[in-house]
Amino acid sequence: MDFKAVIYKKVEHAAVVTINRPNKLNALDAEIIDELDQALGVAETDKDVAAVVITGAGDRAFVAGADISKIKELTVITAKDFSERGQALFNKIEKFRKPVIAAVNGYALGGGSELSWACHIRIASSAAKFGQPEVNLGIIPGYGGTQRLSRLVGRGIATELIVTGEQIDAATAYQMHLVNKVVEPAELIPTALKIVESIAQRAPIAVRLALQALDASVQLPQDEGMKIEAQLFALSCGTADQKEGVAAFLEKRKPVWKGA
Ligand code: COA
Repeated sequence: MDFKAVIYKKVEHAAVVTINRPNKLNALDAEIIDELDQALGVAETDKDVAAVVITGAGDRAFVAGADISKIKELTVITAKDFSERGQALFNKIEKFRKPVIAAVNGYALGGGSELSWACHIRIASSAAKFGQPEVNLGIIPGYGGTQRLSRLVGRGIATELIVTGEQIDAATAYQMHLVNKVVEPAELIPTALKIVESIAQRAPIAVRLALQALDASVQLPQDEGMKIEAQLFALSCGTADQKEGVAAFLEKRKPVWKGA
């Protein structure tokens, strides 16, 4: 598939999707949103892809937000559509069947930080900066920031970030448990790819079911989440890979996954 606004590249078991608008610090426009959506579709159906890595082109930005020139044109009606389109894409990422890793290589502001919050794992380069600067524009986050950030770091820290609009550096984001790791810029993609290769060695259906159970942990009260976990655990025990994984352990050999 030919993409223009994103670059789609397979590296071993990873689909690396690079948002490619560096002269505008990879600000999200409708074309990028559509192509990111399509790229996820390609990655989802490719059996060789174990996980997706999303990053930004150039060395300055992951994504510096939604395209502010488009925000200028919004009316009350089109603004709701605008917000819902971004939310739909980020919901798709959050509920994706394979792990999605944000490799945050620079500014992740507004829609850019919201994109990273929707990913399952965030790795930051030491040059990364995160922030929700929408209040500087007289608006609020509209791509899920008010909902996901509270769930990630608690309401107090989310409130401070959202109502001050201040940027935080990668080390501060790490202290807040917003990112899993901070690495030197040259190590960012190799670190993300190493995680993908680790995932690729595991039973693919178990990985997928684990993502579903983890999603329930933030969407549902704990007792409801426990019911979902028990159902998904039961499903995992019905797979050929469960037989293989347990047999391989007992026979002291490496498992050969069928993805079934
Ligand atoms: N939407 C549209 N264009 C954007 C953008 C955005 N969110 N963020 C950056 N750009 C564009 C700039 O307009 C500029 O374009 P130009 O060269 O055609 O003038 C280019 O990207 C480079 O940005 P610039 O502002 O010149 O770089 P800088 O180093 O001085 O500042 C930032 C970097 C990230 C601090 C600054 O660009 C910024 O504050 N961006 C907006 C962040 C934001 O509010 N995001 C939330 C939007 S809802």
